Amino acid sequence: MKCTRCKEPAEVKLRAHNSAFCRACFLFFFERRVARAIDHEKMFVRSSRILVAVSGGKDSLALWDVLASEGYQTVGFHLALGIGGYSQRSRERCESFAEKHGLELSVHALADEGLAIPEIVSATRRPACSACGTIKRHYFDAAALELGCDVIATGHNLDDEAARLLGNVLHWQTEYLARQKPVIQPRHEKFVRKVKPLYLTSEFETATYAFMKRIDYVVEECPNAVGASQLDYKAVLDRLENTSPGTKAGFVRDFMVRGSRAFEAPATERADTGGTCAGCGMPAFGTLCSFCSLRAEVDRKLALRTRSVSPAVTE
Ligand code: AMP
Ligand code: FES
Ligand code: ZN
Repeated sequence: MKCTRCKEPAEVKLRAHNSAFCRACFLFFFERRVARAIDHEKMFVRSSRILVAVSGGKDSLALWDVLASEGYQTVGFHLALGIGGYSQRSRERCESFAEKHGLELSVHALADEGLAIPEIVSATRRPACSACGTIKRHYFDAAALELGCDVIATGHNLDDEAARLLGNVLHWQTEYLARQKPVIQPRHEKFVRKVKPLYLTSEFETATYAFMKRIDYVVEECPNAVGASQLDYKAVLDRLENTSPGTKAGFVRDFMVRGSRAFEAPATERADTGGTCAGCGMPAFGTLCSFCSLRAEVDRKLALRTRSVSPAVTE
């Protein structure tokens, strides 16, 4: 097998692109693909200060690596979720990556506020991923504001986007379909734009890039992901991709080009983000933003639990 670009022996085959690459040409191909997504979707420019949300996994660390080596101004942000050893290892990978490359990293630990995902989930009985999503969105927005960033970049890859799109279509989640884009514009002056530069880059490609660049990342999945429907959608899409390479990229790209606009609300119907949260000062629809409402629910339920287990008072 020869490299499609330089005809040297190839190291990796990409069936979806009908190509094979040697190491140098794969890195060139990967970086060019990310650069094209950034430019084509007008994600950010050279003068932008980019908050890269890093989980410690391959996608977000590969993204940080590409952006930093392309000379973009980045600051990493890691949210330590308090999910036992998994969170500990995730944080360590982010810290060692930042140290090795001399990059700025900001870490926020939920534990500093007496919070952790397992306790929040057990108190509220909400699905872990939904509670976790609310929390991440809040801290990403707050960190961008605090650190003076113009844009938040996440490592969502093609497999994530295809699985999310399939789930949204299966349940006709029209509001989510309207917001499934590589660039989400802010709806309030305290928010910044959110971008996904890897939205057309497959998980296999980011894993290959991370391997070739010797990025030390957390291989294990979050323990709460077990049984998540997202994994079933990924498995179905993998089967389709296997028989018909390029299916995932076509599904996502064509949705963005042709399908997405069918779900967009007219500008006049687009809701404004309303007022300010009484708890944290971030934008909110009601008195509290969804993060502070979740927090209040956790506090209420934990207080009830403590009351019901404390011994009866005797005179
Ligand atoms: P996930 O929601 O786990 O699929 O992650 C999607 C993207 O969100 C990752 O590629 C990261 O950019 C970001 N992310 C996930 N978890 C964290 C975290 N704990 N801290 C910072 N960023 C995260
Ligand atoms: Fe949020 Fe797993 S990363 S629950
Ligand atoms: Zn709030």
